[in-house]
Amino acid sequence: MIEVREIRKSFGEVDAVNGINFHVGEGEIYGFLGPNGAGKTTTISIIAGILLADSGTVSIAGMDIRKDGRKIRSLLGVIPQEIALYEELSGRENLHFWGSLYGLSGRELRSAADRVLERVGLSERANDPVREYSGGMKRRINLCIGLLHHPRIILLDEPTLGIDPQARINILDIIREEVSRGTTAIYTTHYLEEAENLCDRIAIIDNGRILAEGTLQELVRLVGEEDIVTVTGSFTAEQVNPLLGGVKVDHLESDSIRVLVPDSHSISGLLERFFAAGVNVGEVSIKEPSLESVFIKLTGRELRD
Ligand SMILES: Nc1ncnc2c1ncn2[C@@H]1O[C@H](COP(=O)(O)OP(=O)(O)O)[C@@H](O)[C@H]1O
Ligand SMILES: [Mg+2]
Repeated sequence: MIEVREIRKSFGEVDAVNGINFHVGEGEIYGFLGPNGAGKTTTISIIAGILLADSGTVSIAGMDIRKDGRKIRSLLGVIPQEIALYEELSGRENLHFWGSLYGLSGRELRSAADRVLERVGLSERANDPVREYSGGMKRRINLCIGLLHHPRIILLDEPTLGIDPQARINILDIIREEVSRGTTAIYTTHYLEEAENLCDRIAIIDNGRILAEGTLQELVRLVGEEDIVTVTGSFTAEQVNPLLGGVKVDHLESDSIRVLVPDSHSISGLLERFFAAGVNVGEVSIKEPSLESVFIKLTGRELRD
């Protein structure tokens, strides 16, 4: 349904997207998981036809975005990271405004707006000005705008950013329901749990590149069966180096060591040697194979808000 080949985009010195390739099948939710600045919004904007890539190709439903941009845009619903709503207008008026930009009008537009408002549970509040809405309600209206014209493909750029857990669950449910009707979706996020719970396949993206891609099971297999143990404290690399025994070291620097162990019990010997040698240990964290441990292994850091 969506085929992306070798797209690149630089802003001055910054290579925001640096040779990205992937495809999304019909009816699939494809996740883009990465920290701030990874290149998620730039990639989505290129696919949406909002931004022109420096090179590479994007084809959607067999059409090339450079040639058939108009036709493709009618298939796409874009839910941008930055919410663009008129605060003084009501939710319904905002939908009427944006819907007219999508080429809807008259009764068709009004019934489309009512349909999506109903679907996201905002019919009751639809006539109140947006400035009175909570963050979660604004996110839902933002979602409505992207769904108004019955798009076959939705591009969702961090649609749950900055809202409370309940509102987030609500938005994820709406997206699941949308996809269960056959809509294809690309979903960007920096929340591991969202990628895990929502997406059929996930691409881990950092510094404008996809580092790994697959189903959750496929990705978790990349780290194998080993647990990742991180010990932090106040020590030097030279101090702990002779104490490591046969433990597999993934990363070692002053005050922080990361090791891979077959199960977390195997860490006790290492810690005993640390304590016996008077190594100052502050914190020990154990991560079983999971999307989080895959992420740490691939990027060398944790994914935090
Ligand atoms: N319009 C722009 N001008 C200059 N730099 C940009 C612009 N848009 C994005 N960037 C840079 O490109 C990189 C990727 O940004 P972005 O695609 O927004 O990442 P993400 O959505 O994953 O947070 C960042 O380093 C960002 O600062
Ligand atoms: Mg972004």
